[in-house]
Amino acid sequence: MKSVLEFRARKGQAPISMVAAHTHWEARLLAESAVDCVLVGDSLATVIDGEATTFAATPEIMARHVAAVARGLGEPLQRKLLVGDFPFLAARKGVAFAVDTATLLLRAGAQAVKIEGVDGHADVISHLVQSGVPVMGHLGLTPQSVHALGGYKVQGRDSAAAADLVRQARALEAAGVFGLVLECVPEALAREITSAVAIPTIGIGAGAGCDGQVLVMADLLGLSPGHQPRFVRHFTEAGAAARQGLADYHAAVSAREFPSARESY
Ligand code: KIV
Repeated sequence: MKSVLEFRARKGQAPISMVAAHTHWEARLLAESAVDCVLVGDSLATVIDGEATTFAATPEIMARHVAAVARGLGEPLQRKLLVGDFPFLAARKGVAFAVDTATLLLRAGAQAVKIEGVDGHADVISHLVQSGVPVMGHLGLTPQSVHALGGYKVQGRDSAAAADLVRQARALEAAGVFGLVLECVPEALAREITSAVAIPTIGIGAGAGCDGQVLVMADLLGLSPGHQPRFVRHFTEAGAAARQGLADYHAAVSAREFPSARESY
């Protein structure tokens, strides 16, 4: 999938697979894979830097990682659809700051940006869309609002909260977003939102009724240490393989078995 047009056309067709990645080596693997599209998420603050929240990501840091991932995905205009995340409060400093942030991310190689929430910055989203910058929405558990939400919790559990998320999804569609991430919402609500909008929804912890799914690459490879949310599945155990590799390396160095003659000059 190379464009937001292809992304939109997948509504009601085959499910969209999206992976959130942050590094060049991940992008090289993704380029060789059948995965449809890639997000450089501000989860890089937690996954790469070990922070407890995503707040440490800045437009400049996001742009640096977008550039690393874009290089790994291959030639501009030939590579998979690449979305760059707007970091903490970047959509809340007015249109000019949002335009500057989008400029950094698209110059770094993103074809689109993702913005959390809608209330209070629908005008910013509309302005970017009308300026030719495709915008993806993100509702439900929006990690940049973790303190207002009282933690990393499932959203939209009661009927009022669910109705409000449907309203926000419609507002995002009206603002012109080409797709919508739904994070940590009940499966029935994700299905309702998916039916209520004409744009594809991409779920993470939102059940099987969305138009696609996204997972963080380190999570799906089994590389993330510590607590794993319920919605994460390890599609391989790369962490276990890495631990064994490190143990074998240490043992080989200790035994003077590495490097061998073949590995020496
Ligand atoms: O930052 C991120 O990686 C994300 C995805 C998990 C949707 O926003």
